[in-house]
Amino acid sequence: MAVVGLALSVSACGGDDSGSEGGSGSGSGGEAEGAIGVILPDTESSVRWESADRPALEAAFEEAGVEYDIQNAEGSADRMATIADSMITNGATVLAIVNLDSESGAAIQERAASSGVRTIDYDRLTLGGSADYYVSFDNTVVGELQGQGLQECLGSDTANIAYLNGSPTDNNATLFSEGAHSVLDEVSGYENVGEQAVPDWDPDEAVTIFDQLYTQAGGEIDGVYAANDGLAGAAISILERDGRAGEVPVTGQDATVEGLQAILAGDQCMTVYKSATQEAGALADAAIALVNGEDAETNGTTEDVEGGREVPSILLEPQSITADNVQDVIDDGGQTAEDVCTGEFASLCEDAGVS
Ligand code: BGC
Repeated sequence: MAVVGLALSVSACGGDDSGSEGGSGSGSGGEAEGAIGVILPDTESSVRWESADRPALEAAFEEAGVEYDIQNAEGSADRMATIADSMITNGATVLAIVNLDSESGAAIQERAASSGVRTIDYDRLTLGGSADYYVSFDNTVVGELQGQGLQECLGSDTANIAYLNGSPTDNNATLFSEGAHSVLDEVSGYENVGEQAVPDWDPDEAVTIFDQLYTQAGGEIDGVYAANDGLAGAAISILERDGRAGEVPVTGQDATVEGLQAILAGDQCMTVYKSATQEAGALADAAIALVNGEDAETNGTTEDVEGGREVPSILLEPQSITADNVQDVIDDGGQTAEDVCTGEFASLCEDAGVS
């Protein structure tokens, strides 16, 4: 069934069903000459891809008046390759991907290049890839903000810290962890009492992994580095079981509705806000430059350690969010107060002055 559904949605690209998930947007319809294809990775590793990135990308492409087609690989590298082939066949000029792993991403980029299609790495760098540009946030800084946030929430110079890292196949996860360690390893009284990467950033698997870390540490955990809000939620669920949620600070990332609610409830210490509007806008600008045969404006390069090259990059600035500045995310349009302040969170929003 899934395969049939995919075939239909793939064949729909370049068509005029702009309302559907796989449909192409913007005015002209018909052949996707000069079209921009974007492939998002999945729906499980973070809610951001469908709830924040897709609408922000749609808005950016609509505003620019370019043909686009945004699809989601649903966590399957094979599916991403099939979608990419279809976009190339349908006349995409530029292909942007959020890779599921560097090897499959590099293969897609190689095929695109051999068809004269320019490529962009969106959010995650494809190691050993051939993307013309990399559009992301400064991911080492994301990790540093997480480390600093955890240190501030701990408020003590001695602590046992457990680390729940992101997917081992995601270069960002490596950078987040390196950034966090660069801060936390400097504090001599902090002890690393367990560290695991979570395959595919899967929050369900993270529950099992954190449960093991917690048990191995005999429950003696004072702080948790969790690489994103999904992993934070997994750690919090285990802490809750032991009546320790709120007592043990947990980091996060993505400023999801759940993450912000956990911050307001005191169960999560911080998250990192990365504006989807900014990132999608930067992607749209770079893609449109390529469509027009121009160079995109960059603000640096990023080292591809595997490919041994410096990838021209547009890197944005992430923001640390704690209970004190949840409002910043709402003011910036990252979430709405309506979504965050539902049910039991209404009074917490009121107390924190979030509206
Ligand atoms: C992104 C994060 C996201 C994670 C899981 C990372 O590459 O930068 O924002 O939470 O993937 O999807």
